[in-house]
Order: sequence, then C-alpha cells, then structure tokens
Amino acid sequence: MLSTIRNSRSVFASANRLSKSTGALNRCNSEKARKKDEANYPVRILSGIQPTGAIHLGNYLGAVREWVRYQEIHEDVVWSIVDMHAITAPQDPKELQDNIIKITATLLACGIDPSKSILFQQSSVPMHAELAWVFGSMTTMPRLSQQPQFKEKSEKLKDIPLGLFTYPVLQTADILLYKATHVPVGEDQIQHLQLAQHTAQFFNVKYGNTFPMPEPLINKSSGRIKSLREPAKKMSKSSEYKKSSINLVDPPEVIREYLKKAVTDFTSEVTYDPAERPGVSNLVIIHSILTDKSPQEICDEAQGLNTGQYKLHLADVVIEKLRPIRERYEELVNDPGYLNEVLKSGTDRATEIASSSWSEVKSKIGFSGGILSRTAKEVERKHVTSV
Ligand code: AMP
Ligand code: TRP
Repeated sequence: MLSTIRNSRSVFASANRLSKSTGALNRCNSEKARKKDEANYPVRILSGIQPTGAIHLGNYLGAVREWVRYQEIHEDVVWSIVDMHAITAPQDPKELQDNIIKITATLLACGIDPSKSILFQQSSVPMHAELAWVFGSMTTMPRLSQQPQFKEKSEKLKDIPLGLFTYPVLQTADILLYKATHVPVGEDQIQHLQLAQHTAQFFNVKYGNTFPMPEPLINKSSGRIKSLREPAKKMSKSSEYKKSSINLVDPPEVIREYLKKAVTDFTSEVTYDPAERPGVSNLVIIHSILTDKSPQEICDEAQGLNTGQYKLHLADVVIEKLRPIRERYEELVNDPGYLNEVLKSGTDRATEIASSSWSEVKSKIGFSGGILSRTAKEVERKHVTSV
C-alpha cells in the first residue's frame, strides 16, 4: 500500500507542477503543509461529473480517460455522478433519471471498473448536503460571489437560484467528506478547489486537524477539445449547435457526418497552428490525443491529404477508437439491473467512508456527544442504582 502511494505521488508530481504554474495552489497549500498532509492522509483521488447530457469526446479526452488511468495506478479512487449539482439548472426529472443511467453505462464502458473504483450517485449519500450546510456556515457571501463560474452562469439569468450560488460549497463537501487528497478537474474548476482548500484550512484551525488540503490535478487536455462548429469555444454539452460535439456513443454515420461538417478554413493543407488555424488544429489535437501521437506526427502522416480527405480519415480513426466503448455501452444500457447494482454497491462503500468523516465533524462542531450521550449515561446510572 505504502509503495503504491509513493509511486502515485511521483505520477502526480507532473500534474501538480502544472497546477502550481497556473497559480492554482494558494498559500494554504504551501510545500510544508503538503508534506505534513502526506504523512497524515493517505492518497485518495476523487472527482465528479454532472449527469446533464451525454459524455462527449472533450469529456472523455479531458477527464474520463484519465480517470481510468488513475484507477489503474491507485487503489483508492472515488467517482461521483453529481446529480445534486445538476439541479442547480432546471432539469426534467425523467431526463435526469435517464442521464444518470446513461452516464453510469458510459463511464463503465470507458473502463471505470467498480472493483477498482467507487462509482456512486451523489444524492444517494445525504451527508453531502449535511456537510454542505455546515460549510455554508463557515464561508461568506462575498467569497462565493467572487467565484467566476457563478458570475458567468448567473449573468444569463433573471432569477438566480440559491443553489447556483452555494454550488461550490456543495463541491467542497463532496471533496472533504471523503478526505480526498487529489481532485482531477478542468482548469475552470480551480477556484472551486481553492474554496475547498480554504474551507479545509479554516476547519482545521478552528476544530483541529480533520481534512487534508485537496490538490487539483489538472489534465493538460482538459478544456482543450473545441467545438466542431465554433473552434474558438470548447466542446460542450450545452452548445446551441447540434453538430458541435461528438458523443462517445454516437453511431458511426453521425461521427462521419459531424466531422465532415467541422469548420476549417480555406487552406487545404493539414497543419497544426491553433492560433491561426483553430479549426483544423482542433481536429489534429483530437487525432493526436486519441492515438498518443504528437500533432507534428499527425501532420506528417496527413501529407498529401487535403482537409476534406483528412476529415474522412479522422472519422475512421475516431469511429474505430470509440467502437469498443459504443459496443460495451449498448450492452450495459440494456441491463439496468446491473447498473443499479453497481450504483447501489458504490453508495454502500461511499456511505461507509462518509459516515466516519461526518461523525468526526459532528462531534468536533458540537452536534453529537450532547443529548444522546447524556441519555446513555442516565440510562446507565438508572441501571446501576436499580441493581
Ligand atoms: P463538464 O462537461 O463541464 O461537466 O466537464 C466534465 C469534465 O470534462 C471536466 O473536468 C473537464 O475537464 C472535461 N471537459 C469538459 N469539456 C471539455 C473539452 N471541451 N475538452 C476537454 N475536456 C473537457
Ligand atoms: N463542478 C464540477 C464540474 O462542473 C463537478 C463536480 C462536482 C466535482 N463535485 C465535484 C468535481 C467534486 C470534482 C470534485 O466539472
């Protein structure tokens, strides 16, 4: 176990260097605090994904493919389908339920293995909400109003739901409830991680050492896959353009059609130049990450093809790479009994970890050890005097 932790520490080193260079780690995550943390808390990796639509190529290359790798190099990994975060935007209940099942099937089809990872649905462990309430009383409104994601999302709304405002507090609870030490996320989540770090430090100072300082693990591909229709924007579940993203379980003809229609420019050669040629460079990047080749190798191999021919070639590559995922997905999605079993067992394992942290928090903040234990003592006293 110890050697696994040591090994995985070195695996994380490069990701952490990257996140440090983005200024992600604030002063509470100084080298000294990290070293102390390493001694106190075993490595636990945790992340979450919202069940708000099908998993697309960007999610896969920027997140889920890495999750599968983490599961291979470390034994303590937790993946949460964050349905409570999803309802901070309006959801149709039937669609939400379908999306939870589909996302479970897709994650399993991508290689998340329930015997190596804990995979569970956030709302099935109510302690997330309970801990979020405690943390909500330890953070301030100005701190939350500064969160860039809140600013961005609330700008478009007339009536802002309270849940959107407190979203990062719930995310903090997701992370700290499991005492996660490493959190793979996209760059857009760095401020949420900083809130989790701040809350952990605040709690530790006030109530004694309880939580590790969670470190973001920034995948260098996260956010890098762009929309096929608007290559300046990232591929996203919520794009208004239908042909802007490729979902992992799209049939071959859809993949071919969307790639054929991908926006490029008037130069026919295939080159990699994200600033000047974002459209074709996005295709090269997709190709490069999928095949683990460099963009230059991809361009060299594509010599002699014009962009139209290259799109068809890339479509064949994408279809073949996604074929096993699609086929496994079809089997799984038709077996809801198995999917429910996976989620149920994930909930049981998540609950076990969460219950222990939650009891610790309750006793530290003064929620337990009051009436209940007094009653127990009284019962004992009565028992002794009556004997
Ligand atoms: P979301 O779809 O925003 O819930 O994102 C889930 C995860 O997928 C995030 O942690 C991101 O790292 C990753 N992701 C989302 N969109 C992209 C994209 N276009 N390119 C690469 N990674 C992405
Ligand atoms: N906010 C994250 C996103 O939009 C999802 C998320 C919720 C999450 N809880 C989390 C990610 C805990 C990491 C850890 O991508």
